Amino acid sequence: HSAASGNPWALPAGSARPRRLRTTPAMRRLVAETRLNPADLVLPMFVKEGIDAPVPLQSMPGVEQHTLDSLVKAAREAVDAGVGGLMIFGVPAQRDETGSGATDPDGILNIALRRLRDELGDDTVLMSDLCLDEFTSHGHCGVLDSQGRVDNDATLQRYAEMAIAHAEAGVHLVGPSGMMDGQVGVIRRALDEAGHTDVGILAYAVKYASAAYGPFREAVESALDGDRRTYQQDSANRTDALRELRLDLAEGADLVMVKPALPYLDILRDVREVSDVPVAAYQVSGEMAMIEAAGANGWIDRDAMVLESLTSIKRAGAQIILTYYATEVARHLQGA
Ligand code: PBG
Repeated sequence: HSAASGNPWALPAGSARPRRLRTTPAMRRLVAETRLNPADLVLPMFVKEGIDAPVPLQSMPGVEQHTLDSLVKAAREAVDAGVGGLMIFGVPAQRDETGSGATDPDGILNIALRRLRDELGDDTVLMSDLCLDEFTSHGHCGVLDSQGRVDNDATLQRYAEMAIAHAEAGVHLVGPSGMMDGQVGVIRRALDEAGHTDVGILAYAVKYASAAYGPFREAVESALDGDRRTYQQDSANRTDALRELRLDLAEGADLVMVKPALPYLDILRDVREVSDVPVAAYQVSGEMAMIEAAGANGWIDRDAMVLESLTSIKRAGAQIILTYYATEVARHLQGA
């Protein structure tokens, strides 16, 4: 053959040719090991108190702070597109030291959860961010002690109260994202003692202190001045993630999450390998912003990058992905 083709380097007959499985779109589709499904995706949504019209977010194109009405409408659109669940964040009009709006039954997040559960019933899985940072005047995820440090155990008491408020508002899963020690155990006990044994916990088991939360802080108008490095994990560490996971599983997490997603795929794989509950990953605001900014400049193919990033997150081990692209991608997957 080589003599015939005049190419002395031509592969001999019978050589392996992996490219054969990449020849056509249909062939590639047939052999794809990882497939995104609309039901894998969870849409994070923001609802703001006291606005008459949705407010678009500069650094998260296509994402907005919703009014209660626009929240319900967008939630329905997500559910109709087949999205698997909704994660709701509240943006209150007023904040204080202890984040009292978080536990007030008439606080914006609790009102929104009640409204969504009324409208959607069990057609979706309704989830809530269980954290104080949106509600505190200092922007930390907990309450502060007299020296201005985040007080772990005082915060746990607030989380217990918040869990009950969310459960009473109709949430299916609470998502504690504050990274206080013992939070999953305390929330489980509080829910059970209040009779909410069916309300589950999606634990942010592994949450790194990340620069990729920047746009989110615009979305919730965070008052934070400083950082969260005394409670969120250090990106240098891998074993710490396994320890956090082990503790959350022992404390009763029903599902566990790794966050951010794309910069932490190694951690996601580690967690997948040892977790005996479903594993989620959160493609956070900054991950989205990077794709959008590069796409807007024509530096990357934005649509292709969205799918590639989500496919990679799933391939690494996430069964569930929280992503601001949930509705868009679900529609794309449904061929709409
Ligand atoms: C805390 C919380 C944050 C995010 C989700 N829950 C912010 C933080 O820890 O600073 C970030 C989500 C995102 O960036 O998309 N309530």
